[in-house]
Amino acid sequence: MHGHHRSPGDVTFPSGEEWPALGLGTWRLGEDEARMAAEVRMLRLAVDIGYRVFDTAEMYAEGGAERVLGQALAQAMQAGVSREELFVVSKVLPQNASAAALEAACQRSLQRLQLERIDLYLLHWRGHTPLADTVRGFEQLQRRGCIRQWGVSNFDLDDMRELAAVPGGAACAANQVHYSLSQRGVEWDLLPWQGLQQMPLMAYSPIDQGELADHPALRPLAQRHRATPAQVALAWVLRQGRQAGVMAIPKAGSAMHLRHNWAAAALQLDSQDLAAIDRVFPPPRRKQALSMR
Ligand SMILES: NC(=O)c1ccc[n+]([C@@H]2O[C@H](COP(=O)([O-])OP(=O)(O)OC[C@H]3O[C@@H](n4cnc5c(N)ncnc54)[C@H](OP(=O)(O)O)[C@@H]3O)[C@@H](O)[C@H]2O)c1
Repeated sequence: MHGHHRSPGDVTFPSGEEWPALGLGTWRLGEDEARMAAEVRMLRLAVDIGYRVFDTAEMYAEGGAERVLGQALAQAMQAGVSREELFVVSKVLPQNASAAALEAACQRSLQRLQLERIDLYLLHWRGHTPLADTVRGFEQLQRRGCIRQWGVSNFDLDDMRELAAVPGGAACAANQVHYSLSQRGVEWDLLPWQGLQQMPLMAYSPIDQGELADHPALRPLAQRHRATPAQVALAWVLRQGRQAGVMAIPKAGSAMHLRHNWAAAALQLDSQDLAAIDRVFPPPRRKQALSMR
């Protein structure tokens, strides 16, 4: 439970902290000056609905998404939401991921977010910087109090193993990857491995960027639950509850979608639903390369 809102199930981080499994994405926000005020209102509404986990990146609209999120969170905190209730995730581009460049990139993100600290700072994807160099940079930022935890994104199992072997690399707090009904490859190896480390997997594009919202195979299931196909797709990603350590960060651009997705976290799929889903979206039977969008 965070604040006065019922949270839709928590996941546990290696540090022992617990955070809601459902968060909100911000990709494509902050791109258009004329829409920004409305986007701030939307994110502000998300906080009122109960969202506490927010995912952004320096890449999104070249800082525009961080700016919009920063404004909304500043307003929410003025209205009495405490900083400690919020979990803000941002990401550094691979070209800024050396220990030397990380510091400045993080300061820029903090300024746009109007925050003193990022709760979880991720390497957006793997570039040419040696992982040990990036980890050193993350550790420096942690010592200065600029970030609380660090992690990675778009790392497949071989990358994760390499990371775990560099000095300090085992402290990685999360890996954010594409995980959805149509992209179940991580169930083969990455998700079980992260489970053993008690390292949450943050599922991005859990509705396949909206594609699953119209999927005909999901309609009968949705009807059975008086829900929408998008809600079924989201409930499926979150189906295993806190044990699985899966978070989801759908993006929603309307009040209705924000509310639908919030409600979807409480939607319980039964074994009959899951079997029907497996027939249309079969689980992996061999290693599949990580999907990247
Ligand atoms: N680490 C990475 O490399 C990476 C890559 C991709 C994404 N991400 C993060 O993950 C977040 C989510 O991924 P995503 O934006 O790619 O895709 P997504 O969340 O799977 O899908 C978003 C799309 O689904 C629609 N939608 C949302 N809720 C809906 C509902 N209840 N009913 C019907 N349609 C609904 C949205 O439309 P409306 O806008 O109209 O609501 C939007 O078009 C991003 O915003 C970003 O923060 C990270």
